[in-house]
Amino acid sequence: MQKDLFQIKDKVAVITGGAGVLGGAIASGLAAAGVKVGILGRTAGKVDAKVAEIQSQGGTAMPLVADVLQQDQLESAREQVLSKWGQIDFLLNVAGGNRAGATIGPDQNFFDLSITDFDAVVALNLKGTVLPTYVFGQPMAEQGSGSIINISSLTAQQPFTRVVGYAAAKAAIDNFTKWLAVEMAAKFGAHIRVNAIAPGVFIGEQNRRLLLDESEQLTPRGNTIIEHTPMRRFGEPDELVGTSIWLCSAASAFITGIVVPVDGGFSAFSGV
Ligand SMILES: NC(=O)c1ccc[n+]([C@@H]2O[C@H](COP(=O)([O-])OP(=O)(O)OC[C@H]3O[C@@H](n4cnc5c(N)ncnc54)[C@H](O)[C@@H]3O)[C@@H](O)[C@H]2O)c1
Repeated sequence: MQKDLFQIKDKVAVITGGAGVLGGAIASGLAAAGVKVGILGRTAGKVDAKVAEIQSQGGTAMPLVADVLQQDQLESAREQVLSKWGQIDFLLNVAGGNRAGATIGPDQNFFDLSITDFDAVVALNLKGTVLPTYVFGQPMAEQGSGSIINISSLTAQQPFTRVVGYAAAKAAIDNFTKWLAVEMAAKFGAHIRVNAIAPGVFIGEQNRRLLLDESEQLTPRGNTIIEHTPMRRFGEPDELVGTSIWLCSAASAFITGIVVPVDGGFSAFSGV
């Protein structure tokens, strides 16, 4: 039995969406555990600011400016990580999100859906996970070890009203997580694992106005979510750190292909 099952010090992680709300909290948490973190995002200013924040707290981080939908940019980011740190142990696919046109408004129905926005949301959440995995998973396959963590959502298994494109794409993430877990174990051995986290509802930049009004009071939708959450609150981004460390570390050595809800009991509650 390994002495410290959760030890991940000196490992190397790439975190897509690492300058966002949830990815940023996970990045800070992994850095505090001694992991060298590559913060990958499209906007240099945001990525640089997150790297500076981690460094100011004594962590090790590098900026990786890339779009998760651009293979050449991801490959260049991979070369930056490998030339500086020599390995990639963890990939956290956190970049993702929704678009207004792929959401059905309160006074709309399915036939008002923008197919262009639907395509964009599916691309960001699904291809935006598959492509970084394709690029950053290759060094893991070569070294015969690694942990990949995708970000799903509660809406993958119990679709929320209105968010049709997002829900479909996150359902595909659950499927891809299982598919790739089998593929990696079968073709590259037991030390490459693929799992997902399904966060409950956390207040982020993208969903803030859906959940809270301008005076920070719950909207009707925010209230419905709280009523369906046994813990009666939204999640705090830091509350994703423990599950991330567990899924990266030897503590989860025999776990692959699962989706872990971190949701205050939402997915366990039938509503009655
Ligand atoms: N906030 C929630 O309640 C919640 C719940 C379940 C799942 N999620 C998922 O968690 C993840 C993070 O969400 P968040 O709330 O932190 O949102 P966020 O907007 O703060 O973070 C997403 C990050 O991804 C980046 N990004 C977007 N498109 C990109 C692209 N093409 N290339 C590179 N980077 C790109 C954004 O710049 C941003 O930094 C998303 O996948 C989201 O779907 C969020």
